[in-house]
Amino acid sequence: MRIVLVGPPGAGKGTQAAFLAKNLAIPHISTGDLFRANISQQTELGKLAKSYMDKGELVPDEVTIAMAKDRMEQPDAENGFLLDGFPRNVSQAEALDEMLNTEGMKLDAVLDLEVPEDEVVKRIAGRRICRNDSAHVFHVSYKAPKQEGVCDVCGGELYQRDDDSEETVRTRLEVYHTQTEPIIDYYMAQGLVVTIPALGKVEEVTARSMEALARED
Ligand code: AP5
Ligand code: ZN
Repeated sequence: MRIVLVGPPGAGKGTQAAFLAKNLAIPHISTGDLFRANISQQTELGKLAKSYMDKGELVPDEVTIAMAKDRMEQPDAENGFLLDGFPRNVSQAEALDEMLNTEGMKLDAVLDLEVPEDEVVKRIAGRRICRNDSAHVFHVSYKAPKQEGVCDVCGGELYQRDDDSEETVRTRLEVYHTQTEPIIDYYMAQGLVVTIPALGKVEEVTARSMEALARED
C-alpha cells in the first residue's frame, strides 16, 4: 500500500507510523527524520535544513522533493510506503503525483489525524526522543520511560527536539494551517482522505487507522 499520513505537528504521525508500517510491512518514510539524520551527520543538506527547521518553517521544496524521491526509489519501497511529513504543501503533493504517475502507481489512502490544538501543544511539550532511534518516542506524562531520560527500548539517551520550543511550535502550527492543510482538499478531490480521530490511547488510534485502511483496500 502507498499511504500518506497528515496531521498537525504533535498529532502522533511518527508514533502511529511506527506501528502501521510494521503491521503493513512497508517502510516508514519521514522527511523530518531524514532531515534530522542529515543534521546529525552534519551534511550540507543537514545544515540547510536546520536553518529552516529551527524557525519552524518548511525546508525549500526543491531539496525536500529530491530527498523524498531518492528515498522512495530505494528497493524496500518498491511495494509500498508510509509517508510521514511529506507532502507538506500542494506543490509537493503535485510532485508526488507526478512521480507516481510516471511509474504507473497511485496512492491508496491519505490518513488525516485529527487532534485539537491544545492537545498537540501538550504532546509536543512533553515529547522525548531517543538519540539512537527516532522511532523510540516517549512522553513525560503520557508514555513516561521507566527511568527518566533513558530509552526503555535500547537504553539510549532521551532528548527534546530543538524545534519543540513554545515559540517554534506556534510557527509550525501556523505553517500547518496555511501550507499543509490545503493538501487535504487536494486529496479530498481525489477521494483519498480518511479522517482518523486521534485522541485516545496510541493503540486505539492504530486500530482506527488499520480499520480505515482495511475499508480502503
Ligand atoms: P516533522 O519531523 O515532520 O515534524 P511535525 O510534522 O511537526 O510532526 P512531529 O514530529 O512534531 O509530530 P508527530 O505528529 O510525528 O507526533 P509524535 O508521534 O512524535 O518536521 C519537522 C520539521 O522538518 C518541519 O517543521 C520542517 O521544517 C521540516 N520538514 C519535514 N518534512 C518537510 C517537508 N515535506 N517539506 C518541508 N519541510 C519539511 O507524537 C508527539 C508526542 O505525543 C510524543 O511524545 C508521543 O509519545 C505523544 N503521543 C502520540 N500519540 C499519543 C496519544 N494517542 N496519546 C497521548 N500521547 C501521544
Ligand atoms: Zn532507544
